[in-house]
Amino acid sequence: MPPQSDQTPMLQVENIRKTYHLGRVKVPVLHGVDLTVHHKEWITILGASGSGKSTLMHIIGGLDRPDRHPENPASITYGDRVITDMGAGALNAYRSTEVGFVFQFYHLLPELDILQNICIGSMIRYGRFGYRSQRKGVESRAKELLDRFGLSDRMKHRPAELSGGERQRVAIARALINEPALLLADEPTGNLDLKTGESILDVLAELRLSSGLTMVMVTHDERIAARADRVIRLIDGRVVEQTGVGSV
Ligand SMILES: Nc1ncnc2c1ncn2[C@@H]1O[C@H](COP(=O)(O)OP(=O)(O)OP(=O)(O)O)[C@@H](O)[C@H]1O
Ligand SMILES: [Mg+2]
Repeated sequence: MPPQSDQTPMLQVENIRKTYHLGRVKVPVLHGVDLTVHHKEWITILGASGSGKSTLMHIIGGLDRPDRHPENPASITYGDRVITDMGAGALNAYRSTEVGFVFQFYHLLPELDILQNICIGSMIRYGRFGYRSQRKGVESRAKELLDRFGLSDRMKHRPAELSGGERQRVAIARALINEPALLLADEPTGNLDLKTGESILDVLAELRLSSGLTMVMVTHDERIAARADRVIRLIDGRVVEQTGVGSV
């Protein structure tokens, strides 16, 4: 049985709008997105290419900000903290302690080995000097994650020396290094074949069972979306449907 969400809202997203500006051209992407994610819930955001899924994930993860409309404000509330009101320092702390982010295109650093790639989030969290005292513990946790994901023998490899599925597992391990409560995964299977994609979903499902993570995952694939507790549809920058579906 999957862990039951306890129905306490972990994340409340209200009225998120986002328009990109390319010179004088405006590209409106999100038109007022509302979304609630409960503790320990696994939701997927399903939508076509260009519908604004990555944009929404970046905003939820504190990597980007929504548009400001003082007369009709947006808000993102995480527990009792309002992310959208935070200054740069508090937002950095939110990003590095609460959230793990799995990017659509891995974003591994090519010149670092796998172990270093996984530890990088902790280096950012503790800063150059603070990290010295944390390093042993962080590396041992990184090794545990590598072991769990079947990558112990790849520790000293560079990302280019790994397969797509292996890179994605490294990206998930990196997202977990700071023990986040919320995992945001942007198309974690998008660049993988069906079988490898299924194995990544198995990793995520197992993680959720063992550590009670709350997960928000993006996909454009209905079958993948169906693994989650709830499916949100994003069409042309709006949430148009929320369906409760089966189990993990
Ligand atoms: N930095 C940017 N500047 C300008 N336009 C952007 C920028 N980022 C995204 N866009 C545009 O915003 C729209 C939504 O992009 P987004 O990456 O959020 O879509 P998506 O749903 O994640 O698509 P995909 O499934 O292809 O990853 C697209 O039309 C894209 O061209
Ligand atoms: Mg995307």
